Amino acid sequence: MKNLFDFAEAFFCQANVDEKLALTHQAWQTYIAKELTFTSGRPVLPIDRVIFPARPELLAPRQMPRRKLTTTAGVAAFFHAIAHVEFVAIYLAWDILYRFRGMPDQFYQDWLRVADEEAQHFELIRMHLRAIEIEYGDLPAHSGLWDHAKDTADDLLGRLAMVPRCMEARGLDVTPALIEKFRILGDDASVAILTRILTDEVRHVERGSYWFKFVCQQRGFEAEAKYCELIDQYYIGGKPKGPFNRELRKIAGFSDAEIDWLES
Ligand SMILES: [Fe+2]
Ligand SMILES: [Fe+2]
Repeated sequence: MKNLFDFAEAFFCQANVDEKLALTHQAWQTYIAKELTFTSGRPVLPIDRVIFPARPELLAPRQMPRRKLTTTAGVAAFFHAIAHVEFVAIYLAWDILYRFRGMPDQFYQDWLRVADEEAQHFELIRMHLRAIEIEYGDLPAHSGLWDHAKDTADDLLGRLAMVPRCMEARGLDVTPALIEKFRILGDDASVAILTRILTDEVRHVERGSYWFKFVCQQRGFEAEAKYCELIDQYYIGGKPKGPFNRELRKIAGFSDAEIDWLES
């Protein structure tokens, strides 16, 4: 297989987790070897054709058990939840590059790299879980993450606003404090994994900001106003709740005005 969109369909259309990881790495390696092609005459499959594994069982956010990081079970539940976030993040990276055609090649390269990194994040967390004898799928997971993709399946600016510039950006706000908690608990392995993930995530959000501004410019929208408008449109419950990490968000391409608006 040499075509990016064929890889994407192969990823979406079967349920095996290890197959999905292998396909993602294989696509990135094909790109590195300069053998990947970026054009396809085939129609884009509707988003409801995307398949998820049978496990984990998906629950509404309020049905998810509460977790405390001071207990082993709490730490297991926490990392299982992170594993699921990373797993869905692989889908989200594949989906943005699959569904939105006619962008510059750099767009597809950027999101393929993100997909490959999300697969690495998932693998790191899965290894971490296996060390405490938990397998991905053993616990229930949050059902809401993929909803942002379904809601914005026809709207590239909405997708960029809601996924990299909202969902992934929340990771920049909350992860530094989590790293600090694990540092205090003396859990160096967790600190190392979360630090690695945070470093990559700043770049993922930055790519989101870059392409958001690119498309706004192309279509003649003022990017800051458009961002607020799209969050208003798609975010259920008004606006994401802070506190927001201004320093990391600015590195990731947010303007002060956007962060001020989020905080207001
Ligand atoms: Fe990630
Ligand atoms: Fe990410």
